[in-house]
Amino acid sequence: MTAAPSIAVGYASESGNAETLARHLTQLLHDQFQQQLPSQTLSITCLSLDDLAAQVAHADILLLISSTYGAGDIPSNGGHFLSELKAKRLQVQEKQMAVLALGDRAYDSFCQAGRDLYRLLAEQGAHVLVPLFEADTSFQPTYNQWLSRLLPRLGLAVPEKLLAFSKTYSAREPFLATLTHQHRLTSATADKDVRHYVLNISGAGIHYQAGDSIGVMPVNSRQRVEEVLAAAGLQGNEYCRRADGHDGPIAELLSRYIELTTPGQTMLQWLAEVTGAEWLQALLHPSQVQALCQFQFTADLAEVLRRVSGQVDPLQLLARQSGLLPRYYSLSASPLSHPDELHLTVATLSYSKQGATVQGTASGWLASLPLGSKVPVFLQPSPLFRLPEDPERDVIMIGPGTGIAPFRAFLHEREQLQAGGRNWLFFGERHRASHYLYQADLLRWQLRKELTRLDLAFSRDQAESVYVQHLLLQHAAEVFAWLENGACLYVCGDKTRMAADVDRALRQVLVEGGMSVADAGRYLLRLRMEKRYLRDVY
Ligand SMILES: Cc1cc2nc3c(=O)[nH]c(=O)nc-3n(C[C@H](O)[C@H](O)[C@H](O)COP(=O)(O)OP(=O)(O)OC[C@H]3O[C@@H](n4cnc5c(N)ncnc54)[C@H](O)[C@@H]3O)c2cc1C
Ligand SMILES: NC(=O)c1ccc[n+]([C@@H]2O[C@H](COP(=O)([O-])OP(=O)(O)OC[C@H]3O[C@@H](n4cnc5c(N)ncnc54)[C@H](OP(=O)(O)O)[C@@H]3O)[C@@H](O)[C@H]2O)c1
Ligand SMILES: Cc1cc2nc3c(=O)[nH]c(=O)nc-3n(C[C@H](O)[C@H](O)[C@H](O)COP(=O)(O)O)c2cc1C
Repeated sequence: MTAAPSIAVGYASESGNAETLARHLTQLLHDQFQQQLPSQTLSITCLSLDDLAAQVAHADILLLISSTYGAGDIPSNGGHFLSELKAKRLQVQEKQMAVLALGDRAYDSFCQAGRDLYRLLAEQGAHVLVPLFEADTSFQPTYNQWLSRLLPRLGLAVPEKLLAFSKTYSAREPFLATLTHQHRLTSATADKDVRHYVLNISGAGIHYQAGDSIGVMPVNSRQRVEEVLAAAGLQGNEYCRRADGHDGPIAELLSRYIELTTPGQTMLQWLAEVTGAEWLQALLHPSQVQALCQFQFTADLAEVLRRVSGQVDPLQLLARQSGLLPRYYSLSASPLSHPDELHLTVATLSYSKQGATVQGTASGWLASLPLGSKVPVFLQPSPLFRLPEDPERDVIMIGPGTGIAPFRAFLHEREQLQAGGRNWLFFGERHRASHYLYQADLLRWQLRKELTRLDLAFSRDQAESVYVQHLLLQHAAEVFAWLENGACLYVCGDKTRMAADVDRALRQVLVEGGMSVADAGRYLLRLRMEKRYLRDVY
């Protein structure tokens, strides 16, 4: 036997696409080597990029598949690898490498994480086996093309049948679910409109799990489309061909394919070049990142069109504006309790702007739909946000506001499975009387002892705000005991403020349990590595 080179297949994946491809590639390499080069001893590993970081030295060939999230970020199981690579702490020189980047062309920073990995590996002396391949949402054909180039470079023939994927729905090809039910979860007079929606998906073949989210492709309101047409001085029947391939009368593109709220950076950059406008050039200067974010948050497409009126062809501007992206919603029921249904818990975003009330594109659209309407959806799996495999394990769930959604699904699932583990929920909202989401469900689970503990933080029912993290600290000793007993801890909801505050509170819980600050940090890191501290935050 001769030794074949050692191959490491690494993935960074949030919703499982890159991981699925990495596992398929690993199996394919095993099979192909065994068939075609049986005299060689094999060493092929498949790991998340973060786990691979410690193993890089042992590999001769690095085959990496990474998606992109957020604003051009790498998924959470690749962040450590990327920062180590940036800091030049990984020995990649003289290794051979190939990178497949997964992304979505509707985003300004298309495939950014894969591009960063490829560039850094090449800059640090890794040899390119095949150039970078970039795949859009329908990534299967690109993956197969990548394999067709990659396998011969490894001395392997390309099998006749590559990966044949079963039909899956995507943002480009969604399934049309039917809205069968909706009701307000907050009272009619509450200062916040949170709703429960039920979509029927019979016959779709969508198999979801508790913890998954659903992507919804919204439709822009007629009023906002007309506002943009007026600002652009267009009738609506003018033909437009967009950079993302969509074409047709501009009114149709504006209602289905163009983002009307947030002005996209690519479009603003183009606008700065063609108009030479000083205010735009100042805004796009690298030192003005915060001002640009603020502008994108507060201005909308109609306003930009009005500001450059007469200076550019509005159709060219609209051809470059960001595409209308799907909005994601955590599923709030388990398929075991509600087969053929998707349950959503949606806060209708509403804010005032220049005296007018503006509603969120997707949340406002959903709230306006009559029963029986079709809603374009596709599954967004969250393989990193799952109940423990062992039903006897305890779970602690922290989900204020709409963050409660996946925990309703978890509780349905644990009820159906008659799981023996204890369930502890921390929920928070503004007022008990008007904002207690899913009160009846929670009380029923409490009565039936499915919900072992329920701690409620109604922030505005007293002079001082009370938040979920305050309750965590109040019950620090018990939280610590549950964690020491092997509990899994989940956080869902607001990313910017709540999730960071809860993380700080958890550290404090551990310190009160007798740990030093450094040990508390290591403890939480270990929980994350053991998939016992999981977050779904937005
Ligand atoms: C994985 C995941 C799961 C999610 N789960 C849920 C869930 O279960 N329930 C839920 O309700 N949401 C959830 N979300 C959030 C959801 O996807 C949408 O972001 C949310 O519904 C808003 O979308 P929209 O289209 O209604 O608003 P948009 O039209 O996208 O409006 C948002 C934009 O409005 C502007 N804006 C907002 N507030 C103001 C203001 N005060 N002043 C000026 N401008 C403002 C900003 O430009 C902002 O970017 C989740 C997100 C992710 C990523
Ligand atoms: N980034 C922002 O400024 C901002 C603000 C609001 C909502 N959002 C987004 O709006 C969507 C819907 O929000 P939501 O309805 O789910 O609920 P939410 O606005 O997050 O509110 C739910 C509960 O959490 C409380 N809360 C506020 N700050 C908190 C903190 N730092 N730690 C813990 N709890 C805190 C709120 O109290 P009080 O309201 O009394 O403070 C309320 O009782 C989400 O996408 C969320 O991310 C963002
Ligand atoms: C919230 C969110 C943000 C995303 N951001 C980007 C992005 O900035 N750039 C991009 O090219 N793709 C982006 N995507 C698309 C994903 O990269 C794409 O769906 C990919 O196939 C997901 O692969 P995964 O399941 O392995 O994570 C985003 C998807 C989601 C759900």
